[in-house]
Amino acid sequence: MTTVVGGIGTSHVPAVGAAIDHGKQDEPYWRPYFDKIQPAREWMAAQQPDVCIVVYNDHASAFSLQLIPTFALGVAAEFQPADEGYGPRQVPTVQGHPELAWHLAESLIGDEFDITIANEMDVDHGLTVPLSVMFGEPDAWPCRVIPICVNVIQYPPPSGKRCLSLGRAIRRALDSYAGSDADSLKVVVFGTGGMSHQLQGERAGLVNAEFDLAFMDELVAEPDTGCLRSHTTYIREAGSEGIELVMWFVMRGVLDDDVDEVFRMHHVPTSNTGNGLLILQNATG
Ligand code: DHB
Ligand code: FE
Repeated sequence: MTTVVGGIGTSHVPAVGAAIDHGKQDEPYWRPYFDKIQPAREWMAAQQPDVCIVVYNDHASAFSLQLIPTFALGVAAEFQPADEGYGPRQVPTVQGHPELAWHLAESLIGDEFDITIANEMDVDHGLTVPLSVMFGEPDAWPCRVIPICVNVIQYPPPSGKRCLSLGRAIRRALDSYAGSDADSLKVVVFGTGGMSHQLQGERAGLVNAEFDLAFMDELVAEPDTGCLRSHTTYIREAGSEGIELVMWFVMRGVLDDDVDEVFRMHHVPTSNTGNGLLILQNATG
C-alpha cells in the first residue's frame, strides 16, 4: 500500500525549461509565470514525495515513428534526458523505481492494460520540464520517477476515457503494492501536456483560455463526463497539440472520485501554449 498525496496537471512548454536552464526567470516575459507557480512549488516541497509517476508524451525522442507504443512504462533504474537537437538539457538524471514499476507492470497487465515495458527510455521535455516546473533546479531530483509515456503524436491517440481507466488501474496497482518500502511510500502523479496549443499550420499560435479553464473545471468535478470529449473537439477547441490534455485524465483516475482543488493557475504567454498548472488532493471532508 502506498499513499497518493496529490495529482498535478501541468503543461510542458520547452521554452519554460530553456528559461530555467539559461537563467531567464527574472526577465519581464518570464517573471509573471514564475511568480504564479511559486505556491505550487511550495506545496510540492511540503509533500516530500518518494515517487512521482509522470504521465507524459515523448515527442519522437525515445520512440521514432517506426515504433509507437500507445502506453509505455519505464521500469529502468535511471532515465537520461534526451537530446532533442540542441544536446540534452543539463538537468539531473532521472532515477527510477524498478520495484514499484515492475509491480505496476504486473498489476496493469493482469488488469487487462497491456502496457509496453521500457527497459531503456530517454526522457524529453515532456517529462523533464514538468519536473523543473515543480522542483526548480536541484542538484538531484528529490524523488524517484516512474515515467509513463502516452502516444499523442501519431493518430490514433487513446481516448480520454481510456486514459481515465488507466489512471484507475494504476491506483489499484498502488493500493496493492507490497514492496520493501510500501508502508511509507508517498506518491504524486503528474498528468502533463497541453493546454490549448497548435504549433503548425494555418491556426499555429492558437490559444483558447476559455476552453482550458472549462477543461480544468470538468476534470476536477466531472471526470467521467469530461473524458468523453472527442479527439475532434480537442483539435477544434484546443488546437492540434491540445490533444496532449488526454493525459491529465490518467492523473485524475489515480485520485479518488472526490478531490479538493489545492492550486490552479493559467498563464499566457509562454511560447505558444495556454499554460496551466493544477494541483488536486484526495478530498479530506
Ligand atoms: C511547445 C509546446 C509543446 O507542448 C511542445 O511539445 C513543444 C513546444 C510550445 O508552446 O512552444
Ligand atoms: Fe508537447
